[in-house]
Amino acid sequence: MAGRHQYDYLVLGSGIAGLWFSLGVADQGKVAIITKKETAESNTNYAQGGIAGVWDRNDSIESHIQDTLVAGAGLCDEKIVRDVITEGPREIQALIDMGASFTKAEGQLHLVREAGHAHPRILHARDRTGREIERVLLEKIQAHPNITIFDYHYAVDLITEHHLGQHVTRLRPDVNCYGAYVLDERDETVHTFLARVTLLATGGSCAVYQHTTNPSIATGDGVAMAYRAKARVANMEFVQFHPTSLYQGKFHKGHAFLISEAVRGHGGILLNQSGEAFMKRYDSRAELAPRDIVARAIDNQLKHHGEDHVYLDVSHLEKSRTEEAFPHIVETCRRLGINPTSEPIPVVPAAHYQCGGVQTDGMARTSITGLLAIGEVAYTGLHGANRLASNSLLEAMVFSRRAVNIAPQVAAVRDFNELVPDWNDSGTGQQGEWVLISHNREELQRTMWNYVGIVRSDLRLARALRRTRLLYEEVEEFYHRTRISSRLCELRNLIAVAYLIIRSAQMRRESRGLHYTLDYPEQVTAERRTSLV
Ligand code: FAD
Ligand code: SIN
Repeated sequence: MAGRHQYDYLVLGSGIAGLWFSLGVADQGKVAIITKKETAESNTNYAQGGIAGVWDRNDSIESHIQDTLVAGAGLCDEKIVRDVITEGPREIQALIDMGASFTKAEGQLHLVREAGHAHPRILHARDRTGREIERVLLEKIQAHPNITIFDYHYAVDLITEHHLGQHVTRLRPDVNCYGAYVLDERDETVHTFLARVTLLATGGSCAVYQHTTNPSIATGDGVAMAYRAKARVANMEFVQFHPTSLYQGKFHKGHAFLISEAVRGHGGILLNQSGEAFMKRYDSRAELAPRDIVARAIDNQLKHHGEDHVYLDVSHLEKSRTEEAFPHIVETCRRLGINPTSEPIPVVPAAHYQCGGVQTDGMARTSITGLLAIGEVAYTGLHGANRLASNSLLEAMVFSRRAVNIAPQVAAVRDFNELVPDWNDSGTGQQGEWVLISHNREELQRTMWNYVGIVRSDLRLARALRRTRLLYEEVEEFYHRTRISSRLCELRNLIAVAYLIIRSAQMRRESRGLHYTLDYPEQVTAERRTSLV
């Protein structure tokens, strides 16, 4: 039965951002964590490479800062970069103190080097870092008496003045968030969760693409909900494509298994199907060039040779070292019939990370009062036009801490808004047209992959926008006459995210970082972020 709930802190999402925040505020108020699948299912859980942090005496904070700024191609907020890189190691230490077991060598934490990093500085738990982080955090969360987890609960919409019958715009300065409407997947009822502080920690949106390393939960719900609620959203054109996801054939469905960047850091070499190690032709750093360069080089090779994958080869490296460093990758490949220690791994680029997101102010505050955003859903200014590998787990932890530091003050001046009405589903009914949802989702994902991928153009973007508009009209009509379901809401959100990516890409008339367009191949001097009003 639909109900009303009141919590001091309403946390949407159970990845690293939501969990780190929840543990931080739980001694100061009641916390509800809403998560749409089982508790560990998140991008965090799939993280392989690790967390970047300065840990070695030969490394320096300044070097990590410079690497982050270079990757960001002039669009990072330098103060934010300095803060995150400086504050990061403290958060990592807190995670270790909590019980996270990172890989050691000779008694010291083992550090890996990834592309774009001048030094080995990635702490990791073999090749399953994210799973170890989720394990530790969930164990603590489950033991805390002030935290309640609502799994299989889907956040549908943020509650603002709009739900009190007022006109809300992105330019109105005094919009408040009072909580969220949440669908209980088990009995299909929508509950009203009222909160003093609502935290968006819903992760990214790469499931908007046909090929992605992200699990299917990454449907951009947070960005779409915030945009509908009239929060500001920035830099959505910067979608990071990971160069090396496992190629499992043309007709493979579902998310692509990642072959970590750390494999190239370990000595892996990219080969085209003629056996040529092509990366040196594109960049002097070869396999260790930043991700955008490697992904574009592979894309270029595929188009040039008319092929559908290249190879990542580690067969020349010592077998036992590869097995020791990447047990999960080796085991998964072998299960699928590829033996990485004796043959090259077929790989293709896949959508991996959303660099833009809900705009925040350096302290996790969004443009809506009472609504904070952290993790992949948020735009903080750290990544600019391209994220440096393994900087996102770090970013999530640093901004969670900042959010924890301000949340009690935000909560102290805000009461539960009892005027908020319950969810209204009058006039809707079950229509039995679910096949439309999966067809529309696949059509959208294909459109985004074909027209808004690694290389863009005005023509491709215009074509993608036209198709997305059609899908939008169809789905809105369906939404307003159909009983709510998470599948339908996800599709609606994916369409909103696609719109934001396409429109932002159209507004950026230059090539910079992850955004490359044939019509404007140069980088312009003016450095600006993209914000849709
Ligand atoms: P997530 O971990 O994605 O969590 C989002 C949560 O929100 C999930 O629990 C989800 O179920 C929930 N949710 C979403 N929408 C709703 C809704 N409507 N209602 C209720 N719940 C909802 N980064 C690194 O720094 N290092 C790495 O080595 C690394 N490796 C990666 C490997 C892979 C395969 C992938 C996909 C990403 C990797 N990343 C890595 C990126 C990094 O994992 C993510 O950016 C980061 O984990 C995001 O954390 P988050 O808490 O913001 O979101
Ligand atoms: C990887 O292991 O290659 C992913 C690292 C990241 O996305 O930061």
